[in-house]
Amino acid sequence: MRGKFVTFEGCEGSGKSTQIKLLGQYLKQQDIDFVVTREPGGSRIAEEIRSIILDGRNGEMCAECEALLYAAARIQHLNEVVAPALESGKLVLCDRYVDSSLAYQGYARGLGMKFIEDINYAALYKYQPDLTIFLDIPPRLAFERKHGADKNDRMESEGIAFHERVYQGYKTLLRKYPRITEIYCCGTKFETSDIIIRVLKEKGIIRG
Ligand code: TYD
Repeated sequence: MRGKFVTFEGCEGSGKSTQIKLLGQYLKQQDIDFVVTREPGGSRIAEEIRSIILDGRNGEMCAECEALLYAAARIQHLNEVVAPALESGKLVLCDRYVDSSLAYQGYARGLGMKFIEDINYAALYKYQPDLTIFLDIPPRLAFERKHGADKNDRMESEGIAFHERVYQGYKTLLRKYPRITEIYCCGTKFETSDIIIRVLKEKGIIRG
């Protein structure tokens, strides 16, 4: 049986990687076979594309090029890492997927949802997430928590107005796709982790 595909979304500093790590610890205790991976990256070629996209020196990159590079990294990573794991029945936890492109490039960069869906057709046609966890924390608060943006990271160093648009983009996606569950990050990281585990059980991703 094909494994379940769970993606994690959120603005910079929303704590996705911490939450994926905590969830991983829980799954290990429960003896559940899973794979953790991330976008952009997660495979050799996709990591190379990642370094081009995020390189702070590539300021002249146009929005369309950026969106196409994310889509290219995505399909390579999907075919090489995600698909084999799902087909062998493993649970896959992926830090970001197509929703990131919809929120960042489609909404915040203004390319539109249709353009992003079109260039990601191969990935969307193959694998839609069974569940997407959106870690909800407003960008201003998230940047305060992580003590500002990384100036060498082309995406992080975009102004706060850009990240506010990304946040609005996610809110728009939430209204459109019932597979996305919003989790408010107002408690401790352990409280948030407990909520995520509960949601995974409720949605039938892991046994309850
Ligand atoms: P990363 O350092 O992994 O950020 P984070 O820890 O916040 O996930 O860098 C990924 C960056 O790429 C992040 O700024 C979000 C952005 N991104 C897009 O703009 N579109 C996409 O499709 C994806 C996957 C990521």
